[in-house]
This record gives sequence, C-alpha cells and structure tokens, in this order.
Amino acid sequence: MIKISPSILSADILKLEEEVRSLDLNGADYIHIDIMDGHYVPNITFGPNIVKSLRKVTSKILDVHLMIKPVKKYINEFVEAGSDIITFHPEVDDNPEEIIKMISDVEIKAGIAIHPKVNITDIDHLLSKVQQIIVMTVTPGFGGQKFMHEQVKKIKDLDEIRKNNNYNYKIAVDGGVNNENAKICKDNGADVLAVGSYLLSQNQNKYYEIINSLR
Ligand code: DX5
Ligand code: ZN
Repeated sequence: MIKISPSILSADILKLEEEVRSLDLNGADYIHIDIMDGHYVPNITFGPNIVKSLRKVTSKILDVHLMIKPVKKYINEFVEAGSDIITFHPEVDDNPEEIIKMISDVEIKAGIAIHPKVNITDIDHLLSKVQQIIVMTVTPGFGGQKFMHEQVKKIKDLDEIRKNNNYNYKIAVDGGVNNENAKICKDNGADVLAVGSYLLSQNQNKYYEIINSLR
C-alpha cells in the first residue's frame, strides 16, 4: 500500500507537537520535514533541532527533505537528530556519492530529490546507490503550489528503470499532491506521497479520512 508522508511545512507551528501526534494516530506512515535555508530555496524553515524534538513525539519514519546548499556539513547533525531517511538535492554538491555514503554508512536511508529542472539522465549514476528518490512536482521552496503534471513521466521512468535494473529505491512524490492526482502518481509507480497543504489545511478530525482517501 502507498505510504503517506504528511509535510509539517503546512502545520500550525504553535501546535506542532499536537499536529504530529494527530498525524501519527490518524495513519501517517512517515512525517515529512522540509528543511529550507533561504539559499538553495528562497524560504527558511527548520534546522536539526526540530527533527530532534519530533523524534521524542513520534516513532513514525522521519522523512527529512534537505533543500539546503551546502549540505554535506549538516548531514551529521541531521543523523544525530534522529532522521530515518535523509534526502538531498544532488546538484548542490560536486560529489553527491560521498554524501550518499555518509548517510548509508550510519544505516540511515539515503535519498535524492529531483528538482523539476533536473533530468533523470543527470542523476542516473546515483540511482543504484539510494533507497528513496523524491520526484518534485513543484519548484521546491513553498507549500501550496500547483502539481506539475509534466513531472509524472519521471515517476514512470524511474519505475521502469528500477524494474529493468533490479534497483530497490522507493519513489516518493512531493508537491501539490491531492485527491485528484494521488491516483495518477500511484498508477505510475509511486510508493510514497508527501502531502502538505491538502491535508494540513483541514481540521484534525478529517486527517484519518483524507489519509485513507489518498491511498
Ligand atoms: C516543497 C516541499 C514540499 C511541500 C509539500 O518545497 O518540499 O514538501 O511543502 O506541500 P504541498 O503539498 O502543499 O505542496
Ligand atoms: Zn518536501
């Protein structure tokens, strides 16, 4: 069954603990944490402390999405904070293999995220080395943007590539996911949906129903 990874970017920060507990109780599989630096993306969000604090609140998979440049010097902090998956944008470093290795060596799942402007052919040398690939269906930086349908082809291509090569990465989709496009993502091979505003803009008493309807 497809996994749902609610993004706390759209959460009420003053009630973050309560929100995450509620997402946990209502069937979220992962908690997606968007780390933005005001440099790789034009927005600033959280640092490793938020991961550390949320680690005490939930045992769900902490799915940390780093939209930061540089990234290498922060990996250890996000590891120590308790991340379960660390995904970064490979174009931010000359040696993404080294960063993948840093993450994998400490037995955390390593992921790469594909910016809408990056092609699979630009990163195909990394595909055998990672456990998660995030296909970005918005330009990274903000929640609440419109799903870019033209990125769906990447989901399908990545699914084909892994079947043909016996790769074992999971395909996640991130950006503008809602009940209209969740099925399209799933039918094209997605395993994980990161969902921000579509879910978090609703009352907590709707979370269970929405999470299930997205599957
Ligand atoms: C965008 C983030 C996404 C986004 C998801 O830069 O990586 O995780 O916040 O939020 P929605 O679902 O509102 O696009
Ligand atoms: Zn994200």
